[in-house]
Amino acid sequence: MKSSDEVVLITGCSTGIGTSIALYLARLKTKYVVLATMRRGASRKEGKALQDTAAKENLRLFVLDLDVNDPKSCDRCVAEARSLASRIDILVNNAGVSATVQSVEENSMSEYKRVMETNYFGSVRMIKQVLPEFRKRRSGTVINVTSLAARVWMSAQGPYNASKAAMQALSATLAIEMKRFGVHVATVLPGVIMTPILLKEQADADLDSEYVSQVRHLKKFYQGMAFGVGTPPTDVSKVVERILNERSAPDGLSALAYTVGIDAEGYITTLREKGNEWWVKEAAIERDDQGNVDFIYENSGIDISSRYRTVKKPSSKL
Ligand SMILES: NC(=O)c1ccc[n+]([C@@H]2O[C@H](COP(=O)([O-])OP(=O)(O)OC[C@H]3O[C@@H](n4cnc5c(N)ncnc54)[C@H](OP(=O)(O)O)[C@@H]3O)[C@@H](O)[C@H]2O)c1
Repeated sequence: MKSSDEVVLITGCSTGIGTSIALYLARLKTKYVVLATMRRGASRKEGKALQDTAAKENLRLFVLDLDVNDPKSCDRCVAEARSLASRIDILVNNAGVSATVQSVEENSMSEYKRVMETNYFGSVRMIKQVLPEFRKRRSGTVINVTSLAARVWMSAQGPYNASKAAMQALSATLAIEMKRFGVHVATVLPGVIMTPILLKEQADADLDSEYVSQVRHLKKFYQGMAFGVGTPPTDVSKVVERILNERSAPDGLSALAYTVGIDAEGYITTLREKGNEWWVKEAAIERDDQGNVDFIYENSGIDISSRYRTVKKPSSKL
């Protein structure tokens, strides 16, 4: 390893955005040495596949075991990273879970805690692992993958929105605290990216619930986006590369928050122009399918009409 090389540790690389960022940075074949972490590491098929790809393409990519919910696993992973690569230069907190699509009232306390445990505490745990090294060395980069959901709130995903908003707030605080130590902090706010997460936590809507229309709408939205309308994960990887390139740009060029996807750009612009109060009032209106499709198009720029009724596992309840 050359002294100009940078060691990137990425969490949650078994699927989706994490796999994409790991392979994308390794395939640049420039200065990044990639530590692609995931639960059960190379002992699971996704880990083995990533290692096989790395061997075949001669990539500097290594698969490590990491469960961000488990403090001992975090200790072990970081120790292994340091023995393998001698240091960590960049932490990408990507591991995350979605929440059961349900109202604030009906989601269980255990669900709120489960989502917060991974999306918020898991990232904080990893940040605390690397900060002493970054602060002492006066260099380092933390990139937190939050979400558009940190800024634009859709109903029926309260625990997820809250976990991502918490991470966004913590990231801004961290950026202020670490600036004097030369440590760079940025967040990535993807809109809907086509990854397995969109089809997780898809329990059937409770037809007796008074919130059923909001639950059905969010499920149809996710499933529509999952099958061809959402943004590919490589777009997130390209933004991570951009953040890494912009770190050394003069102040003013590098940003704290980077959005990814047309929908993210569209919704953030809408909210900036019309305000939070407008959003709460409009998003609360109950619409039929066509009305929902139109509302999405008007505010995000995404035409989901051909996919809104598509469901992967057809259910009489959707
Ligand atoms: N896809 C989107 O539309 C979207 C939009 C905005 C933000 N995001 C965020 O992007 C990140 C990546 O999501 P994705 O879309 O790529 O979904 P994904 O394919 O489901 O990937 C999530 C990754 O997180 C890992 N993970 C979950 N719990 C973990 C834990 N306790 N310890 C370590 N790893 C854990 C998963 O590993 P296992 O295989 O072991 O479960 C998986 O590797 C998440 O933070 C998500 O919230 C996604």
